[in-house]
Amino acid sequence: MYKIVKQQRLNSAVVSIEVEAPYVARKCEPGQFVIVRVDPDGERIPLTIADFDRAGNTITLIYQELGYSTKRLSTKAVGDELQDVAGPLGQAAELRKTAKVLGIGGGVGAAPLYPQLKKLADLGSQVDVILGGRSAELVILANEFRAFARQVTIATDDGSLGLKGTVVDALLRKVRDENYNRVIAIGPLPMMRAVVEHTKRLEIPTMVSLNPIMIDGTGMCGGCRVTVGGATKFACVDGPDFDGFQVNFDECIRRQLMYRQQERRFEQEHPC
Ligand code: FES
Repeated sequence: MYKIVKQQRLNSAVVSIEVEAPYVARKCEPGQFVIVRVDPDGERIPLTIADFDRAGNTITLIYQELGYSTKRLSTKAVGDELQDVAGPLGQAAELRKTAKVLGIGGGVGAAPLYPQLKKLADLGSQVDVILGGRSAELVILANEFRAFARQVTIATDDGSLGLKGTVVDALLRKVRDENYNRVIAIGPLPMMRAVVEHTKRLEIPTMVSLNPIMIDGTGMCGGCRVTVGGATKFACVDGPDFDGFQVNFDECIRRQLMYRQQERRFEQEHPC
């Protein structure tokens, strides 16, 4: 069993938990994820590993309470145990020293971005970060990024923190003064699509992280199918990180919307 040793609410919808998971903590690398089951009959929830402590045998998971299962996860407290934490799954992100990297995190996308940028900074890369959200409350981990990033720029839709606008507005400002060698963008699909539209034009190689519907997490069910460079890929085994220039975002967005109605109906019928 996997005990929750720390729990912190980052805002009204986002929670961080540190969980004892010795095998995962020993093996995981930035970019990889786990599949969590809260109870024996629980749904499988794919969550990217936001941080890990190899000596302490723990991993940190940051999730948004979006549906029945993540809300159920939030009913657990420090000391409670989770049914399963399976992983590490997926490919580790390909990270090597790069002169100037710009990380862009939209909302809870800042969580999977964090370990990748931390590793790039450890390797000696110059790292700048843009964090975005609809309002100040929805911007997470700014202080954690400040611990290693050269600059942290915040953009909020309502202007309640940082510049008023989207992460794309912030990106367009930054590239006026800086030549970045690589962008890593993680957040909602429309955000990543918008970032890639610009970085493609600017010819800055851009990696994105896809988080489609996942069931088994091992490449067997086909649930996480995405099209990258015209070929079918499974985000759980081939990703979750992909070359943003090659991703068919329109198809990903269509597939993500496919089950929205059923999820809402299930939530109404099964309140936590
Ligand atoms: Fe089943 Fe990826 S989750 S193939």
